[in-house]
Amino acid sequence: MAHLAWSQASRPFVRLVYFGNMLLILKSGLRAALCDTAIWNIWQRRRDKRQIAAWIKAGKPIPPPSSVKRRILSNYGVARSLHCFVETGTLHGDTPSVLKDQFKAIYSIELSEELARKAVRRFRAYPNIHIVQGDSGERLAEIMNDISSPALIWLDGHYSAGITARSGINCPIVQELASIFSHSIKDHVILIDDARHFNGTNDYPTIEELRDIFARERPNYDFSVSSDLIRAVPGSPVADPF
Ligand SMILES: C[S@@+](CC[C@H](N)C(=O)[O-])C[C@H]1O[C@@H](n2cnc3c(N)ncnc32)[C@H](O)[C@@H]1O
Repeated sequence: MAHLAWSQASRPFVRLVYFGNMLLILKSGLRAALCDTAIWNIWQRRRDKRQIAAWIKAGKPIPPPSSVKRRILSNYGVARSLHCFVETGTLHGDTPSVLKDQFKAIYSIELSEELARKAVRRFRAYPNIHIVQGDSGERLAEIMNDISSPALIWLDGHYSAGITARSGINCPIVQELASIFSHSIKDHVILIDDARHFNGTNDYPTIEELRDIFARERPNYDFSVSSDLIRAVPGSPVADPF
């Protein structure tokens, strides 16, 4: 009897969970169907504009939303007339998606086989976007072999919990930089995400250690940190668009 009463009382809850799940399935189906279409791009631009305005209004707290970081990346590409974008850590591919019309060639490395497979599927209609599966500490050097002009390099391949993958270390930044420094082109623009994590713990070097590496390898670079981004740029710094 008590069991019957409980099962009747729980029915609205079960229905709620059922409809909640249906909504989630519908939402991810819609996302997959609309992803990277013209409608999607318009919606994404409007959402990014709103997010950036809200971030500025809130006093530019750290960390900024991804839309702010992508606007900064785009600005570096324009300011230095760069046509090639290289990313470590693809995740869902949202950064290549935003930059796909700006750069002639985009390379993105993702350690997780599943995320890389999904990104390959997402960008199958874009011959200028190359998704490479593997550890950026190793694969970046191979990609650099294909590059024959200064590139905007976005180092974001750190383990970030959740569905993200982890290689032997949480942050392969030292190996990534070694691949960049050994390349024949000596004036790539390098931006590193998540400056707040670079404190000498969990395989992250400190900002000062990175500054020393750049002072040694690229003494002509301007090295700075702002809005949670470490920026290493040949010559003079580039101002943010906001
Ligand atoms: C913070 S997310 C990247 C976000 C993405 N760059 C963006 O702008 O939206 C970090 C990604 O790096 C990947 N990753 C972690 N270690 C890696 C490694 N050694 N090589 C390549 N990718 C790695 C993770 O699986 C995760 O997808």
